[in-house]
Amino acid sequence: MAELSPADPAEPQVVVLPDPAMLAGEVASALLARLEAAQDEGRVPHVVLTGGSIADEIHREIARRATDSHVDWSRVELWWGDERFVAPGTADRNEAQAAEALLDQLPLDPARVHRMPSTADVPDVDAGAASYAEELASLDGPFDVVMLGLGPDGHIASLFPGHPGLEATGAAVGVRESPKPPPLRVSMTFETLNRARAVWFVVDGEGKADATAQALAGGDHREIPARGVQGQEETTWFLTESAASRL
Ligand code: 6PG
Repeated sequence: MAELSPADPAEPQVVVLPDPAMLAGEVASALLARLEAAQDEGRVPHVVLTGGSIADEIHREIARRATDSHVDWSRVELWWGDERFVAPGTADRNEAQAAEALLDQLPLDPARVHRMPSTADVPDVDAGAASYAEELASLDGPFDVVMLGLGPDGHIASLFPGHPGLEATGAAVGVRESPKPPPLRVSMTFETLNRARAVWFVVDGEGKADATAQALAGGDHREIPARGVQGQEETTWFLTESAASRL
């Protein structure tokens, strides 16, 4: 594992792993350690999950290691950075993927699992965003960890380059015409994603190497939305060698 430590702690940290399996192992063990530390301090940790293929691998790895950890799963709060606005239970739902890979295997408190609304709950994406924003209003501190996958266009959550969601105020936003299917989504806004002690970008694949390099180079978040999110204490990019190939 190559670790490029920044001279300035406000700068993002970059951790490069040889392949997706090793990346998933690294992120899973870092997350379990973070949850244990928060609970040891007497806090109930809040974690924001992401969708996507590397997230799925990470979820499976957390599930594999969960019983060896000392995490009290009934005292962990889970949120989603974005969700596909489709029927509940369909494989397209980020929460359905996470449930199958991870949540169904943990003794979580259902009241602490904050799923985003689906088409069964609200009439449209705006109502979905309003309802999630209401739920987020109960949050008094920052999230402990916000995990974000990255698209080849630099999107994170469902905040896409050039889309109106980038300018949204409030805690969550309804997204239409997402370039990544399905077209209807609900997403946390930058304002919410930035309420984080730690932001962890999790990225695999040659196809994301350019977006990764551009995000880390800084600049306008409307071109590369990932530039618009950073942790209050830490921002870490967990990359496979292929994703890091243009750094
Ligand atoms: C989604 C996501 C999205 C995802 C990235 C990376 O709902 O699709 O939350 O932001 O994390 O597109 O996804 P992949 O890892 O599948 O490329």
